[in-house]
Amino acid sequence: MRLFFALPLPDEALDALEAAGRAFAAAGEASVAFGRARRSPRANLHLTLAFLGEYDEAGLAAALAAGDEAFGRRTACAETADERAPNSGFALKLEGWGAFPRRGAATILWAGLGSSPELLAVASRLREALDRTGLLYDRSPFKPHLTLARFSKPAELRGLPAGAVPGIEFQAQIAALYRSVLGGGPPRYEEMGTWRL
Ligand code: 2AM
Repeated sequence: MRLFFALPLPDEALDALEAAGRAFAAAGEASVAFGRARRSPRANLHLTLAFLGEYDEAGLAAALAAGDEAFGRRTACAETADERAPNSGFALKLEGWGAFPRRGAATILWAGLGSSPELLAVASRLREALDRTGLLYDRSPFKPHLTLARFSKPAELRGLPAGAVPGIEFQAQIAALYRSVLGGGPPRYEEMGTWRL
């Protein structure tokens, strides 16, 4: 199974990212390329912390143990959906958009985040725990981003509106290990474990 760790997003952040999608789509001429994008469905929007790739059941168990080491006691998945702990986690802020590898020839359009030492600390703690368990993961430097859309052919996005992503603040309260199920259409992400931050 294909595994990765990510922070799921609360409703207010998902609403803001959907609003960004509407602003991109309404941008007249400039949105022609955006119209060809494979947009991330709301349920697939998350902030990836570490991508592990293909593992078997033993790998899953090791990944869960690494999550326990990095984040502490696991929570029941159902608990995360509708219960907020007022004092847990840390604040993040949506901030602007960008593209990989670049705006003039983009394969990924993302929403950015304001700099957050807490977020960097969470990603490092997780990656150190993965290192200790010996699990392999994509070691590219952590570049926090929320993937809004993917392009099969490099797209010219420089005309899209600069202010499309509303600068709202939200609370990151949960980390999760996901399994990505590929098939026709967008992947489906299943929670395999969740932790309160
Ligand atoms: P993303 O964060 O840019 O969207 C599951 O595939 C998630 O892990 C995706 O959200 C994806 O990118 C992220 N990811 C990070 N590195 C990856 C890699 N090397 N291959 C596939 N997905 C990767």
